[in-house]
Amino acid sequence: MSISAQPQLSAFALSVQQGLSAPRKTLSPRYFYDDIGSALFEAITLLPEYGLTRADQRLLRVHAAEIAVRAGRTATVAELGSGSGKKTRYVLEAVCRGAGPVCYRPIDVSRAALFSCEKELQGICEIRPVCGDWVSGLAEIAQTRDPNQKLLLLFLGSSIGNLDRHEIPKFLRDLRSHLLPGDLFLLGADLIKNVDRMLLAYDDPTGVTAAFNLNLLGRINRELDADFDLKSFRHEARWNERERCVEMHLVCCRRQRVYIAALDAAIHFEAGETIWTESSHKFTRTELEEYAQCSGFQALTAWVDQEWPFAETLWRAR
Ligand code: AVI
Repeated sequence: MSISAQPQLSAFALSVQQGLSAPRKTLSPRYFYDDIGSALFEAITLLPEYGLTRADQRLLRVHAAEIAVRAGRTATVAELGSGSGKKTRYVLEAVCRGAGPVCYRPIDVSRAALFSCEKELQGICEIRPVCGDWVSGLAEIAQTRDPNQKLLLLFLGSSIGNLDRHEIPKFLRDLRSHLLPGDLFLLGADLIKNVDRMLLAYDDPTGVTAAFNLNLLGRINRELDADFDLKSFRHEARWNERERCVEMHLVCCRRQRVYIAALDAAIHFEAGETIWTESSHKFTRTELEEYAQCSGFQALTAWVDQEWPFAETLWRAR
């Protein structure tokens, strides 16, 4: 890859430049979610093979009242990633029923996501979105909250699984550093299950996940003026036993060169070479308890779905 200096490249362009010039090509999963990618992700959550979102929703619906009792007189509900807001509704409504005035603070880098979440949840309580990344968004909330009132932090949908496994303890400690003793943390995490079942969830026969993955190349074409031939790449999902994650790749089907005009860069691909686009880590319950322990939390309880092994864990900041 030949790169000439480019002034004022966007964060997306820089990330693509870095990922595709590495010896093992990668693209960051954070860029899946443009308008097309977000719509495809919504479709993934409806697929019969992808049980994760339904399990998360079932657990929140069934245990919302219990979560609210534990939350007591919580004044702030903060959420990392605003998502569609649908799952949050169960918890938010239950918490608002039992407490005094509650303020909901969704944190997301996407203003569009915050806007649609606000629309979905309006009327339940006051909503004050924070546009930014998760840890700095929480830091901002920590500065303005009332230290005499409790905060409930939500991190749903197993988004924690998309972090590098070795980054997770530090990430959790960073979150903990912006909480006060007694604050609660509700963390949704997908559990390890039968490998074929996990792989099918990330390689559905309808091809929605394949389209979601390939859209990353489409996005590079649209936004960075590249000439990826999407038909010459195929989606692949692999189980990585050592890292305990499902990896998604885009496999290049023929030797080729792709030109990205915004970077003025030509990238060479060998047939069979892959671009690694995402890892979805899967967990055991014991491992989740260990994460709580090593990051300054006490694991209070965990609810596990019977149809699709998925855990909703409730932790208290020590
Ligand atoms: C957002 N995240 C938890 C999803 C997952 O399962 O890792 C993203 C996804 N990728 C493919 N299908 C769904």
